[in-house]
Amino acid sequence: MIPQFFQECAEVLVNEQIARNVYLMRLRAPRIARACRPAQFVQIRTDAGQSPYLRRPFSALRTDPEAGSIEVVYDAIGEGTRRMADAAPSHRLDILGPLGRAFVPPATGRLLLIAGGVGLVPLAFMAWFHRDRRDDMVFLMGAASKDRMPEMDRVIPSDLCRWLATDDGSLGHKGPVTDLIPEHVQQDGTQLLTCGPHAMMARVAEIAAELRLPCLASLENHMACGFGACVGCVVEYREADREDHRYRRVCIEGPVVDAHAIVW
Ligand SMILES: Cc1cc2nc3c(=O)[nH]c(=O)nc-3n(C[C@H](O)[C@H](O)[C@H](O)COP(=O)(O)OP(=O)(O)OC[C@H]3O[C@@H](n4cnc5c(N)ncnc54)[C@H](O)[C@@H]3O)c2cc1C
Ligand code: FES
Repeated sequence: MIPQFFQECAEVLVNEQIARNVYLMRLRAPRIARACRPAQFVQIRTDAGQSPYLRRPFSALRTDPEAGSIEVVYDAIGEGTRRMADAAPSHRLDILGPLGRAFVPPATGRLLLIAGGVGLVPLAFMAWFHRDRRDDMVFLMGAASKDRMPEMDRVIPSDLCRWLATDDGSLGHKGPVTDLIPEHVQQDGTQLLTCGPHAMMARVAEIAAELRLPCLASLENHMACGFGACVGCVVEYREADREDHRYRRVCIEGPVVDAHAIVW
C-alpha cells in the first residue's frame, strides 16, 4: 500500500555550505514538516537531465512543524545536487514526502548511531526527534577528512555524545568509524543503527553479527519513483519468508531494514 504523502512547492529559506561540497537546505513545506518522522525522505525535483520525472531522494535532517520547515543536507555530487546548490533563497522546489517507513527505536537500551558522510542525516533526525525521550544515544561519525566533516553542532543536538573519525586522521580517530563501535557497546542491550556508504554499512552489519547485536541500516539505493511503483530500488533479502519476497522495495519497505537480513 502506498502511504500518504504530499506534494509541495517549497520555498528555499536557507541553502548554505557546511563542509566541502556539502550543503544544508531549509525549505518551507508545512504539510511535509508536520508528517515527517526519522528515516523518512523527500523526493526533490531538480529538473536535472532529460526527464523532469526523475526526482532525487534526500533524508530529512530535522523538521520544525510550527515554522513549517524541513531541512536536508546534501552532497553536491552530480547534476541534480549541483542545481540544488545553486538555488538561492526564495527559489521554489517541487518536493514529495514524507516517503518511506519511519524508524521507531526500541523503548530501552543504548542507541548507537554510526554514520558515514551524508549518511549522518537520518541518524541525526533520530537524535533530534528522540532528544527528550531518551538519554542513552551515542553518535559515531566518519568522514574522509576534516574539510568533509560538517560542524557537528549544526547537524546534531549539541548535548549528544559524539565521537569522530576521519580516513586521513585530520580530525578525531584515524581510520574507519567502524573501529569505534566495540568500545561504545553496552552489554545490557545496544541497538546499532547505521547509514552511509554501502561498504561501511556492510562492515557495521558484520561487526554487529560478531557481537550478536541487533542492527538496522538506512539504505540509500538509487531510486526513481520513491513510492513503490517502478521497482527500481530493490534489495535482496537473505532469508525471505516467501520466495517471491526475496527482493523488496527500499522506498516503501525501507529505507530502514534489518541489516542482518540483507545480502550485502
Ligand atoms: C532514501 C535515500 C535518502 C538519501 N539521502 C541523502 C541525503 O540525505 N543526502 C545526500 O547527499 N544524498 C542522499 N541520498 C543520495 C542522493 O539521492 C543522491 O546523491 C542524488 O540523487 C544524486 O543526484 P545527482 O543528480 O546530483 O547525481 P547524479 O548525476 O544522478 O549521479 C551522480 C553520481 O552519484 C551516483 N549516485 C546517484 N544516486 C546515488 C545513490 N542513491 N547512491 C549512491 N550513488 C548515487 C551516480 O551513480 C553518479 O555516479 C539519498 C538516497 C536515498 C535513496
Ligand atoms: S523507487 Fe520506485 S519502487 Fe522504489
